[in-house]
Amino acid sequence: MGRLIIVSNRVNPPSSAGDESVGGLAMALAAALRGGSGLWFGWTGKTASAYSGQLKVERIGGVMTATIDLDEAGFCNYYNGYSNKTLWPLLHYRPDLAVYDRDFQHGYQLVNERFADALAPLVEPNDLIWIHDYHLIPLGRELRRRGFANRIGFFLHVPWPAAQVFVNLPEHRELVQALFAYDLLGFQIQDYLQAFEDYVVSQAAGRRTEEGMLSAFDRSVETGVFPIGIDAPEFARLARTQTARSSRERLIEATAGRRLIVGVDRLDYSKGMEERFLGFERFLADHAELRSKVLMLQIAPVSREQVLAYQEIRSRLDALSGRINGEYSDVDWTPLRYVNKSYRRDELAGIYAASCVGLVTPLRDGMNLVAKEYVAAQDSEDPGVLILSQFTGAARELDAALLVNPNSREEVADALRRALAMDRHERTERWQALYDVVSRNDVQAWRDSFVARLRATRGLAIAA
Ligand code: F6P
Repeated sequence: MGRLIIVSNRVNPPSSAGDESVGGLAMALAAALRGGSGLWFGWTGKTASAYSGQLKVERIGGVMTATIDLDEAGFCNYYNGYSNKTLWPLLHYRPDLAVYDRDFQHGYQLVNERFADALAPLVEPNDLIWIHDYHLIPLGRELRRRGFANRIGFFLHVPWPAAQVFVNLPEHRELVQALFAYDLLGFQIQDYLQAFEDYVVSQAAGRRTEEGMLSAFDRSVETGVFPIGIDAPEFARLARTQTARSSRERLIEATAGRRLIVGVDRLDYSKGMEERFLGFERFLADHAELRSKVLMLQIAPVSREQVLAYQEIRSRLDALSGRINGEYSDVDWTPLRYVNKSYRRDELAGIYAASCVGLVTPLRDGMNLVAKEYVAAQDSEDPGVLILSQFTGAARELDAALLVNPNSREEVADALRRALAMDRHERTERWQALYDVVSRNDVQAWRDSFVARLRATRGLAIAA
């Protein structure tokens, strides 16, 4: 049986259990490879003045990695440009923020070709190749052009939007056609797969075949829904470590007995933090009697800082948090703590455990692993309440959370009031239902189901 080769834009496996630099996706990919003979290929996260194609092969935290640097132009056009100024906003229903620029498109294509060239010498005939996310849509086609007949799968971590949103992209057809070079396309939830199928049928004269494949552009591809999960027992264990206990105690002391509401997100406009702050402000306005009894902590490490839309959301959040604190603070109380720093995962587990409410309200999110980690970190005897946006992939599985429309500050304020008033019996019942899902649909189940399905595909050269 061949190896599993995972390819993603950024390669950053955790070097230790509590590694602070690592988000949910990196944890999932590292977990998908650990213990096996596989390889994780992608970008180092660094740039060099000129592209060298030099491969760096090393084992990090038990995972074999092979990485390359980008050059400045690649960083600008492929990463900041096409990936994060064009595709990211479109895929998250923000066509108003999308920038269309041929240099971005060409840079995106070029980096995908370079990835294919750098990966090519590492691939053996029986290897399964699993490519991740919107940065690398053309990579499968580039490998095919270089003669690789391996099973190649693609998993999209972010939403696939409605066809009428996606057609704003000038080269929408070309990008979708590239997806038909894969053997298997995976989506987080059925809605995204359905939206993709709607596009294929309405814009590319495609169809669902009798064997259940999607057919267009003279090719057929298998499709499936594979909701990504976390390593729940491992995260629960992190929440019981000494580091987590200390961060929990530090926070309990700092909140002086007040009830803590917590949000943790990359600083991204898709995460709905502005709307969330407005919802919290509405809660403060509506409930004068509860004001000094609560405190909201929003952790938001900065992200993609060279992209204008990210600079703008940061300024707006700075202003909004200042305004809310100016309006409602007292000499001995500040309602909103807004922190742009990142924390170790074990510290985060302690912060989740110290809180009464986890407030996870993105405007759009492919899955949202913070919601799952919040559940895993809770004390089963006295758990906090998860408030979750209905526009996350996670909401499909975590329906025992309080689901809200994040655009409505009234709904967010009402959910906060309800969560803070919820008795222990209801909290425990809801938490148990959530934890059952989070531990059953975990990261191993995600990997195993995708890989088994990819292995079982009929392979290349399937004519429509
Ligand atoms: O989850 C979507 C995603 O783009 C991942 O592919 C990526 O690892 C994460 O967000 C963080 O983004 P970035 O690599 O741009 O910092």
